[in-house]
Amino acid sequence: MENRRPLIAGNWKMHKSILESVEFVNQLLPLVADSLVDIMIAPPFTSLFAVSEIIKDSNVDLGAQNLFWEKNGAFTGEISPLMLLSAGCRYVIIGHSERRQYFGETDETVNKKINAAMEAGLIPIFCIGETESQREEGKTFSVLDKQIKMGLEGLTLKEDRMLVIAYEPVWAIGTGKTALPGQVQEVHLYLRNLLEKTSGKRHAAAIRILYGGSVKPDNISELMALPDVDGALVGGASLNADTFSKIIHF
Ligand code: 13P
Repeated sequence: MENRRPLIAGNWKMHKSILESVEFVNQLLPLVADSLVDIMIAPPFTSLFAVSEIIKDSNVDLGAQNLFWEKNGAFTGEISPLMLLSAGCRYVIIGHSERRQYFGETDETVNKKINAAMEAGLIPIFCIGETESQREEGKTFSVLDKQIKMGLEGLTLKEDRMLVIAYEPVWAIGTGKTALPGQVQEVHLYLRNLLEKTSGKRHAAAIRILYGGSVKPDNISELMALPDVDGALVGGASLNADTFSKIIHF
């Protein structure tokens, strides 16, 4: 796996109050203190600061689920990269399929967000993935190709660890239908070859490509055994500290 340290990331989506978030991290930290993999949790915006205060000296990193690309200004309801940094974030999830589906995100807005995140020193977890009908129509690779090329357009990577990709087939999210190991490895290898073209050989070898979509304690080890899978972006199964800890200890 080259020198790619695995990253197990939890995307809480729109779940947990501040109190529930605090309770979760207090349960999680002792369970994962021995872990050698990188760990990230992405609570809702409202819980970020409270969680960051608890995890700041631990081996768990904080991420946000979205951002807006401007630094500040009259953008009611939006959150800037610097605000996320000041709340303790190191990562930010960008272009999740739910944001593309329900909130009108496009490859262009995703590109602006990735740029803004990197410029501020946040590590984007850039999400891509095909829908069920796109896969059935044999368009998986052309869809991913477009998402990667447009998402990374004009972007120069300065450091190896500044970007994470998450392959999340839309049909596998929240459905219990995990992609088969063969399907996952095929896509991840395709993405790594594509990243060689967009970002150069050295970066392509160092960028972590996570898999997301119905990751659970009982399927994580076979996913992590695949040569181009460098971690997971976990939704539902990241909401319970015991379950998430089992995934972290794959
Ligand atoms: P589930 O793990 O609930 O399928 O969600 C995956 C996901 O969307 C993570 O970003």
